[in-house]
Amino acid sequence: MIASSQSFAPPSLTITDLDTTAVSHITPPGEDVIAGLTQRQKTLPPRYFYDATGSQLFEQICTLPEYYLTRTEAAILAEFAGEIAAVTGRCELVELGSGSSTKTRHLLDAYHLLGGTLDYVPIDVSREILVESAEALLADYPRLRVQGLVGTYEQALTHLPVSPDAPRLVIFLGSTLGNLTPEACDRFFAQLETALNPGDYLLLGVDLQKDPNILEAAYNDAQGVTAAFNRNILAHLNWRFGGNFDLEQFQHRAVYNAAAGQIEAYLDSGRSQTVQLTDLNLTVNFAPGESLHTEISRKFHLPTLQTELQNHHLTTRQIWTDPQTWFAVVLAQRQS
Ligand code: TRP
Repeated sequence: MIASSQSFAPPSLTITDLDTTAVSHITPPGEDVIAGLTQRQKTLPPRYFYDATGSQLFEQICTLPEYYLTRTEAAILAEFAGEIAAVTGRCELVELGSGSSTKTRHLLDAYHLLGGTLDYVPIDVSREILVESAEALLADYPRLRVQGLVGTYEQALTHLPVSPDAPRLVIFLGSTLGNLTPEACDRFFAQLETALNPGDYLLLGVDLQKDPNILEAAYNDAQGVTAAFNRNILAHLNWRFGGNFDLEQFQHRAVYNAAAGQIEAYLDSGRSQTVQLTDLNLTVNFAPGESLHTEISRKFHLPTLQTELQNHHLTTRQIWTDPQTWFAVVLAQRQS
């Protein structure tokens, strides 16, 4: 539990598993899969992308030439982390979906330079990646104190550690906000509005609307990594719920819906087929060409996003972008 501590300093690493029992009582395992696969337009909850294989494939996506998102966001943070820290001053950093915390290092560098103890609260559904990245960070930042939370964003936002003396900065990178439907996004902002104290900050990394060819290429890479990532959701269901999806009979497709401003990812059935998920007592029929909708990735229009934030008393303080305005990092502050 305690990775490193000095005799005169408090433990610098704690990991807390948030109680998921209450949640799983409401939703037994697999209920969300059954609900999605029995709708007219079949869908799957995107969190099933991220088993061990899926997480590895996603790390690979982040390095693809077509997938400009990760490297563009990292470049913005590398260039402007000092400015972000200068606007907010000392803060406790809370990161939703921290993963490997690679891009966060630019922020940790800047906030570490402000002096004193630096509190970092990474939140992730994977305990393994949380412990591993926290230990690596503690080796590099001598005045860092890590309080990791294992759980979903929703659980974490209602279980944040007791407020420190400094304001909070909640960090949500990678345009993960875009994987929420507009309704879920609004609920998320409402939760933040409740969780944040007046004066606290929110730092969002969001992908912006642009030429559809650039967007579609980012989700249809030449090497087929994104196709493998999309299909892996079926492999995950196979091992988790005793399924017999034949991955070769599903075709990856990602298209930009300009009216909705979102990339939509699908798996199209190659033929008429029946799939069993034994552990869920579920039989699913697919017609030839029938689509299974797996993900949306919304592409943002900054003035609209600012209005949506403001509806929840989150006032934009500053926006940083890359020279092509492909991606933005938005700093907002909770008003009283
Ligand atoms: N958050 C990532 C995004 O919206 C997730 C992602 C990348 C993704 N490529 C994908 C999801 C392909 C489904 C299919 O960009």
